[in-house]
Amino acid sequence: MAIERTLSIIKPDATRRNLTGKINQRFEDAGLRIVAQKRIQLTPSQAEGFYAVHKERAFFNDLCTFMTSGPVVVQVLEGEDAIAKNREVMGATNPAQADEGTIRKDFAEDIEANSVHGSDAPETAAEEIAYFFSGLELVG
Ligand code: CMP
Repeated sequence: MAIERTLSIIKPDATRRNLTGKINQRFEDAGLRIVAQKRIQLTPSQAEGFYAVHKERAFFNDLCTFMTSGPVVVQVLEGEDAIAKNREVMGATNPAQADEGTIRKDFAEDIEANSVHGSDAPETAAEEIAYFFSGLELVG
């Protein structure tokens, strides 16, 4: 297995409920290392740019409104097979379908306010990391 990096976002529903530490604990317990992290307030154009791949979807406007409704924590997680491992720790997009013990099962409010985002493939991970971080900010 290769050492990978993946982009993670702790979403506004989770920062609002002060869950950043509890969620970070899940990542670290799974062997993922937080090699970059910052708490930011997304602007509408930053949220729209990040989710541009979904711009034709019915949920796009609501999703961008939600993602700008409060602070988010953007972070880079590093570890063996980090992309798949993070998706395992997060659970399914819809918390109603998420496995027991996953972040979304335990913390998500609904399919939109689902507490965390994680990259889905190596190419998107590289693009998403570069969207928020410069190379100098990644300290492994
Ligand atoms: P995320 O992994 O950040 O990727 C896209 C986001 O769109 C997803 O998590 C959800 O927060 C949100 N979303 C809202 N409605 C839907 C839906 N019907 N299907 C998929 N994603 C949705």
